[in-house]
Formats: sequence, C-alpha cells, structure tokens
Amino acid sequence: MRSDAWYAGDDRNAYIHRAWMRRGVPGSAFEGRPQIAIANTASDLTPCNSHLTEVARSVKNGVYEAGGIPLELPVVSLGETLVRPTAMLWRNMAAMATEEMLRANPIDGVVLLGGCDKTIPSLLMAAASVDLPAVVVPGGPMLTGTFRGVPLGCGTDVWRLSEEVRAGTLSQDDFLRSESATIRSRGHCNTMGTASTMGLLAEALGTVLPGTAGTPAPDSRLLEAAHETGRLAVGLVNDGRRPSTILTRASFHNAIVTLAAIGGSTNAVVHLLAIAGRLGIDLTLDDFDRIGSRVPLLADLAPAGRFLMDDLFRAGGLLAVLQQVSDLLDPTALTVTGRPLVSYLDQAAIWDQEVIRPRARPLLAEGGIALLKGNLAPSGAVIKPAAASAHLLRHRGRAVVFDSIEDFHARVDDPDLPVDAASVLVLRGCGPKGYPGMPEVSNMPLPKKLLEAGIRDVVRICDGRMSGTAYGTVVLHVTPEAAAGGPLALVRDGDWIELDVPGRTLTLDVPAGELAGREASPGAAAAYAAPVRGWEKLYVDHVLQADTGADLDFLVGSSGDQVSRESH
Ligand code: FES
Ligand code: MG
Repeated sequence: MRSDAWYAGDDRNAYIHRAWMRRGVPGSAFEGRPQIAIANTASDLTPCNSHLTEVARSVKNGVYEAGGIPLELPVVSLGETLVRPTAMLWRNMAAMATEEMLRANPIDGVVLLGGCDKTIPSLLMAAASVDLPAVVVPGGPMLTGTFRGVPLGCGTDVWRLSEEVRAGTLSQDDFLRSESATIRSRGHCNTMGTASTMGLLAEALGTVLPGTAGTPAPDSRLLEAAHETGRLAVGLVNDGRRPSTILTRASFHNAIVTLAAIGGSTNAVVHLLAIAGRLGIDLTLDDFDRIGSRVPLLADLAPAGRFLMDDLFRAGGLLAVLQQVSDLLDPTALTVTGRPLVSYLDQAAIWDQEVIRPRARPLLAEGGIALLKGNLAPSGAVIKPAAASAHLLRHRGRAVVFDSIEDFHARVDDPDLPVDAASVLVLRGCGPKGYPGMPEVSNMPLPKKLLEAGIRDVVRICDGRMSGTAYGTVVLHVTPEAAAGGPLALVRDGDWIELDVPGRTLTLDVPAGELAGREASPGAAAAYAAPVRGWEKLYVDHVLQADTGADLDFLVGSSGDQVSRESH
C-alpha cells in the first residue's frame, strides 16, 4: 500500500502517523488496509451538493465492509449559482487543491463525490493528475418541481420566464411566485445542463459504477450505489486500476458519442478537453465534430426538449440511451469495474420511448456539437445546433457589438439600438483571460424591442461560455478570445458576419487588408481583467484558451502519486 510509507514500521515517524490517526481506530487499520479518501464537495454554499455528506456515510460503510479505511476529505466546492465572477474561475484551483491533498496524504484510493457543474470536472482533473485509483459517485439531479401544474426545469425555465416578463406576457408577481417551486429537493439541476451532463459523461468515461449516474439525489438507490462504490474503491486499490488505465482515448470517444446522444451541455467540451490534457491524451475540438456531430440526439430533455432528469432515469437512464448507439461506441473502453462499458448495455431497456427515443426515431439525426472555423475564430468556436433555431444555422447579418457584459446590459434595451431580427449580436472580453474565468454570458438576452416583436432568437457570438441550461443560436468559446489578441476584438458595428453551421464556418466579411489595418477596440481592452495578485493573477497569467480546455499551462499533465519527503 502507498499508505505504508506513513504507517508501516516501528520507527518514530510511523508511530507519529499512527498515533494521531488512532482516536478510537484499532491498530489493525494501519496494517496494510487500503486507505480510501472520500473527496467530498458537500457545502452549504453549494446547495446542489449539500446531501453528499449523507452519501459519504454510505460510501464509508461500503469501504469498511470491503476491508478498507474510509477517510472523509472535504475539498474545494463550487456552487454554480453563487460563486462570482464565475465558478469556472476556480475549477482549476479546486482541481489543483484536491490533487495536492490526495498526493500529500496517506491515501491509496479515492471516491469522488460531486454534482454541481464544476465539481465533477475538477475532481476528475485532480484524479487524473494524481493517478490514484478513483471512482466517482455523481450526486444526482433533483426531483422535478411544478408550478401551476407545469413542470419547471431549473435554469432553463428561469431564462424562459424572465424573458416572458420582459416581453410583457408574464407578471412580475407570478414570476416571483414560481421561485419556491423551482427547486423541489436536494440534488443538482434537473435539466440537461452541465451538472447532469458531467455526471452522465463520468459514467460514459468509465469512472462511475455503471447504471448509477442520473439516479435522482433523493432516490434510495443512490445510497445503495454509494455503498457499492465504497466496496469497489477497495477493489480498485487491490487491483491497481487507476485513472490512467480507465481514461483512454477510447473512453473519450465514448464520452463524445454520449454527449451528442443525450444533447449535453457545451461546457462538457471544455471539461473533457481539460481532463484529457491531464492524461496526455491528444483530444481536440475536431474530435468532437468528427466523432459526435453526426450522432443522433435521443434524449428529449430540456433545454432543447420536453423532459427532465428524473424522467430520463425512469425511462431507462443512460445505459438505455447508450444501447441505442452501441455500434458507435468503442468496445475496448473499460469501466472502473474492469468490464467494458458496452458489456453493460445488453440488460438496458427503454421504458418510455418519448423520453428516450429509439435509434430509428431520433429527435434529430445529428445531435452533436459542431466546430466552426474561419477568420473570426482561427482556433475554433462551438455551437450546439440542437439548441439553435434551424432557420439561423445559415445566416448573414450585420454585427451589433458589445465590449463587455456591462456595456451590453447598459444598451440592450435602448430603443435606438440599431438591431433587428437579422442582426448578429457580438459580445467580447468574456474569454478565460478577459473576464476572467470565461463566464456563462454568451446567451445574451434579446433586446426588448425584438422580444416585443415576437422574435425569440437571433445569432449571438461570444468568447465566453453558455449555461448548459440555456438555448439559442449562440456561437461560443470563440478562440482566441478578444483579450488574447483574437480577431473578435476587431469587429465593428455594421460589419457583415456569415454563419454557416452545415459548412462549419464563421466568417467576418471584411477584406483581410482592411482587417490587418484595424486596431483592437479600446473599449474592449479597458474592460479586460487586470488582476495584480492572488489566484486571479495566477489564473490570467497561465490560463490556456478554450480550445484546449482552459486549464492552467503548468497543470496540464500528471505528476502521479509519488510519496514526498518526510515531514519530520
Ligand atoms: Fe448546481 Fe445547476 S446550480 S447544478
Ligand atoms: Mg450551469
């Protein structure tokens, strides 16, 4: 055991390590039994994960039962709705802190408890870089709340209802009345937002006990899975099965197919690229388009569709979706159990063909994320056609440019803003360096005068991200970002922009010669983040662009689980 480096032997240091850990624990705990950390992101300030301490208890029971020693390790937790300026600014910090604490301690394996958007990505990045045997328990979605008999999808319906208020079709009072109905139970957002997506992708990657992801947070079966996962973690240590053995190119292939079939969040692109970077796997944006863009969309979930996560679970869950696309999966990819992911699909079944469509009757023939390139996004930009309006997927319009989200809010409802249904809204300064942290502001609300005219979507382009619960014809993750010298900083009001999703291009229709002579917008530059100390400074100095996962340059890769020098 790795932990023997702390506990084995009769010298003074082993004595110290054991003595302080005893406190009622029998001496046999230190005699070669696997020490299993439970990296717990439970926090009152991360309400989506607050139930994970109960989940941890079930994990502990399973670890004990299998002969291991469970050790709860509270780790940095990121609550998507509260943390400013954006939880994404801290994803890499959370990953770094978790990685370092796992390596610094006498740990042989780890169970990762996450839920809310950034928590599972940060835990998987950490696990990949320390490469200790690891398994995820996704905390699971909340139950569906209803308002006036109509189900509410968190995130998605907040955006929808607030647009209704601005359009004058819903009163402010009724809007506020829906507030207490939105969050019905423990668990993360119940739409196919980033949390749901990353929980399911963790299973598609092979890092979750198969059949577990998507179990609603209050469902007893989550605790059963947690207990079983605790047992499994001990087995992982005994078998020496590590993230580097499970997370291969084949498992990322399967995650990309899954992302398309479930209609998952665009944020998953950034997270999967970052996790792959920790493992030295050369995953690119092209892989997402090549592997995923022609995979059929089968799960009819909000924001693009009708149902919510507990519907997906009752309809058969992730394995039922994957069974329909099993021919597109890589059969060599293994799971934490040692068995291939595809070996779990025989038993799966669809129990509601409205929620999970059979392959022959997909919601969309091509559900994946598309990669766009062109002179406006030389290193790429992404769009989720499934969440976009079909009539805008090929569009040419004039730019209406905003230098920051504050500039946008100040002017969007100005009756004199030169905007119409054909306009292309451009927002810059929202990339990893510019904001900093690449916030979810790309799905700019529509100008009031367009809403009042009944228009519900226009083309929007931004170097930021979009909430997985949002929808619209939004071009995201434009790379390089404006603050990193990207051409987005050169766009001016009235420029023609051409979006061609089928052709995979995004073009600023300004002659190259004219563009070369343009200066970057001083208004945009004035809004870029310029931190002088602390994490923000470290982040802005070292963050990579979205096309490689927005990790910090010095965190890419792995340092393994090597035991450091003695502390005494
Ligand atoms: Fe936590 Fe949506 S706010 S998952
Ligand atoms: Mg979100």
